[in-house]
Amino acid sequence: MQNKLNKIAKDTNIFLKKFIKKQKKTELIISMKYGLFSGGKKIRSKILIDIGSLFKLNYKSLIVIGSAVECIHAYSLIHDDLPCMDNDTIRRGKPSTHIKFGESTAVLAGNSLLTMAFEILSHKSLNISEKIKIDLINKISKSSGHLGIAGGQYLDLSYEHKKISKKKIIEMEIKKTGKLFSFCCVAPLILRKKSKNEIKKFENIGSEIGLLFQIADDLIDYKGNLSAAGKKTGKDKKKGKATLISLLGYKNTIKYANKLIFKINNKLKKYGPKSKNLAETLDYVLNRNK
Ligand code: IPE
Ligand code: IPE
Ligand code: MG
Ligand code: MG
Ligand code: MG
Repeated sequence: MQNKLNKIAKDTNIFLKKFIKKQKKTELIISMKYGLFSGGKKIRSKILIDIGSLFKLNYKSLIVIGSAVECIHAYSLIHDDLPCMDNDTIRRGKPSTHIKFGESTAVLAGNSLLTMAFEILSHKSLNISEKIKIDLINKISKSSGHLGIAGGQYLDLSYEHKKISKKKIIEMEIKKTGKLFSFCCVAPLILRKKSKNEIKKFENIGSEIGLLFQIADDLIDYKGNLSAAGKKTGKDKKKGKATLISLLGYKNTIKYANKLIFKINNKLKKYGPKSKNLAETLDYVLNRNK
């Protein structure tokens, strides 16, 4: 699993470095690169490739689409760490982007990485039809704005120090994290021009995978440590974050996560032996320590 992730990370970074190199140099590039290339598991790209394998898609196009996703993900982390959000000083084992370059630069580097995703997906070098490009851009936009990451981050912050229901916590985690995973699960079906009905099914599977991913992240904050995780842990409790752990307790949250894995794998079984790729990734998602 780690070998596969390393290969995806390497190929993604090669693409992104080439893409940025072709652009005119600016002062912001250094901080953008810092946020983008400071590490990162590339788990979203792995899921995109796992689902892509069910539909026999071309690896290279998936790396390009995954690169756009990783730009949006990197932007969301830069902003998530800002003093006005989670106020975190360490990310991926290094000073957060705003610690290294200052707040205003971090905001602007984040914005530029968000829009770079759209530059990548609309670029002429991505060899797919314009209609499909527009569908991809439409989907990834919805995953990032008020219906997705930004909306979920708003809820995450507004729920601090409040008693929040299970349903609302799940909704918030699906928005802030799940929607980008939904995009990764749906992009292969958009490329294959699948029906709306099938797209909806994979949208839901993506939400469940993203929810699982965020629960695992919350578990790392609860039980993990800085040297393995590359970010400070034990912060969710201090900040009064509404998580399933704070509501249901540690053991029940693990049970919930295992049930979720079972449910997702069941839905994917019918796609044949290739669904094992995703099953392996889900196992990694829950049992990782970073
Ligand atoms: C962390 O995401 C933030 C969440 C959405 C939970 P990752 O754990 O994927 O971060 P990197 O890219 O590997 O650092
Ligand atoms: C972040 O969730 C979700 C995003 C969309 C960035 P967290 O705030 O729990 O992520 P970490 O723990 O700081 O990586
Ligand atoms: Mg946060
Ligand atoms: Mg955070
Ligand atoms: Mg966290």
